[in-house]
Amino acid sequence: MRIETVAVHAGHEVDPGTGALTTPIHLSSTFEREMDGSYRAGHQYARTSNPNRESLERSLVALEGGSAALAYASGSGATMAVFQALAPGDHVLAPDDAYFGTLRQLREIFARWGLDAGVVDMSNLDAVERALRPNTKVVWVETPSNPLVRVVDVARLAELAHSVGARCVVDNTWATPVLQRPLDLGADVVMHSTTKYLGGHSDLLGGALIARHDDEFVERVRLTQRLAGVVPSPFDCWLLLRGIRTLPWRMRAHCANAAAVAGYLSTHPSIDAVHYPGLPTHPGHDIAARQMSDFGGMLSIQVRGGESAALQFTHRLKLFTRATSLGGTESLIEHRASVEGAATLAPPNLLRVSVGLEHPDDLIADLEQALAQ
Ligand SMILES: Cc1ncc(COP(=O)(O)O)c(C=O)c1O
Repeated sequence: MRIETVAVHAGHEVDPGTGALTTPIHLSSTFEREMDGSYRAGHQYARTSNPNRESLERSLVALEGGSAALAYASGSGATMAVFQALAPGDHVLAPDDAYFGTLRQLREIFARWGLDAGVVDMSNLDAVERALRPNTKVVWVETPSNPLVRVVDVARLAELAHSVGARCVVDNTWATPVLQRPLDLGADVVMHSTTKYLGGHSDLLGGALIARHDDEFVERVRLTQRLAGVVPSPFDCWLLLRGIRTLPWRMRAHCANAAAVAGYLSTHPSIDAVHYPGLPTHPGHDIAARQMSDFGGMLSIQVRGGESAALQFTHRLKLFTRATSLGGTESLIEHRASVEGAATLAPPNLLRVSVGLEHPDDLIADLEQALAQ
């Protein structure tokens, strides 16, 4: 089945109790035990499992083509579950331009617990090979990356990870399973901030891990979900499953709008650079064309005149809201360097743009008026 059909149907079924087509939200924190000690639908206590999370996880497995999915309370919670499944002395290799929260976890939390982490430019495969160690257990990949929009070769990185017995974990938040399926490219685990495109409406916080094999590593990340209770609420699971139904169609519009915006900005004299994998000039364009079915809804731009010109430009925009996050229906713009602080790789004049679902002509007209002043 194609992804549009999977997104509409996976995880959904008519409620056997009432005939309702829309899955009810099960707020109950606990479930009745039968005389023989079993539970009618397998749910005992909502931290361990509940019907809404189970439906969501079935949908996520189907979307990414995995064997097991685990939903978390945030993308960061899902990331943390991967690192918590490792042991002191294990080595994690991450991209130098990974989402800054991922790098902060490694530096500020897991270093103290003895996890050894290194960063490398993953577009340089020779450098990745040199940075691998016998104790590397996870090669963390993020493509396209936040906020530099670098694109890296998932298949080659998975091969390199496997050459030292490490797992390849791909943060697929920006591409979504509609545009990129890392498990099909050889990765072992996919991570999502479902807060973004999967939810799609800027109204929930969530994360997910989807694994190719339901093995002992997955059993360990499941412990963090269930024993630590890093779980999304039934309502957030319900909202997310509802958002996923339109994901493939929303992604088409996000991609088309972002391509139009990137094309317009790439020729504008007030813009020094546009980082969008759909532009043939982007260094990762060929890899993106190979491993993605379209180029996504995210881009970064560098504004001529430096940081203050970039900030002033954001204040003149009317349709792009200055806010963090991405992947919602509304367009957002953000000055990443001031959010990320001293360790940022983002140039001071860089703005990250999440292109929403407004009409592209209106978005371009808004950019035009803001750049003209
Ligand atoms: C690529 C990427 N990964 C992970 C995260 C963290 O997700 P959350 O904010 O849901 O914890 C984000 C959030 O911006 C992100 O953009």
